[in-house]
Amino acid sequence: MLLAQMTDLHIKDNGKLAYNRVDTVKFAKDTVQHINHFTPKIDAVIISGDLTDNGTMAEYEHTKSLLGQLNMPYYVVPGNHDQRKNLYDSFRENDYFMGDEYIHYSIDNFPLRLIGLDTLVERKPHGYLPPSSLSWLDQVLNEQPEKPTLIFMHHPPFKTGIEHMDVQNLLNAEEFTKLIDKNSCVKQVACGHVHRAIQTVINSTVYSIAPNAAHATVLDLEFNAQPCFTLEPPALQLFRLDEENKLTSHISYIGRFDGPHPYFNKNGQLIE
Ligand SMILES: [Fe+2]
Repeated sequence: MLLAQMTDLHIKDNGKLAYNRVDTVKFAKDTVQHINHFTPKIDAVIISGDLTDNGTMAEYEHTKSLLGQLNMPYYVVPGNHDQRKNLYDSFRENDYFMGDEYIHYSIDNFPLRLIGLDTLVERKPHGYLPPSSLSWLDQVLNEQPEKPTLIFMHHPPFKTGIEHMDVQNLLNAEEFTKLIDKNSCVKQVACGHVHRAIQTVINSTVYSIAPNAAHATVLDLEFNAQPCFTLEPPALQLFRLDEENKLTSHISYIGRFDGPHPYFNKNGQLIE
């Protein structure tokens, strides 16, 4: 199975640029085309929050029309730039939403089980999973303890060294990671929010943040670094579950680059 992760689209409406500079709509269109043309075919797409920049219905309508171009199913969870009710109302016809107070759900019809978690605290940059969300997750994980599972959510439950983002990650990270530790079916927790490709391991689980297809947060690990973005090469995260249920992830860059060039000539010799 092949799964793509898009994150932090920050779609605006009426041709507005994010931060007066970033054409997020164009980046989203390019990403959708990249996913549609990838071979072998990508089976599903997860979108880990910040679908829109301001969470307005007009922005969601625009986002939905862009995502509607995908040739495979996609699944969304909110980020801090989203508004839960508007997101819910815009995407509820995609019948995987469970209709609870939060936008949590599990997708069970792929070899890799996908669990979407809603970490949004309205009008706050940080994330939080209240006790009801943690007990929902505990229950859902216990339903299929053997099936390889990937959890996706917006706010990372770990520090990255980029301080201005670390202060706005998942507030109750320890509670969440303790729950994950009890469930060996969780192969990876895939997040967004930081706009950079970052990985860590907590006990035996991989936690990752996907790269961004629009603006990236500057990699500045100095204490008190100024919050800035840069336009690094756009990219998305891919996950591959093989026949032995091993999960591997890749970064796939979006755009035209020199190559591909063969390593070997037609006689099978390595080109020097
Ligand atoms: Fe974002």
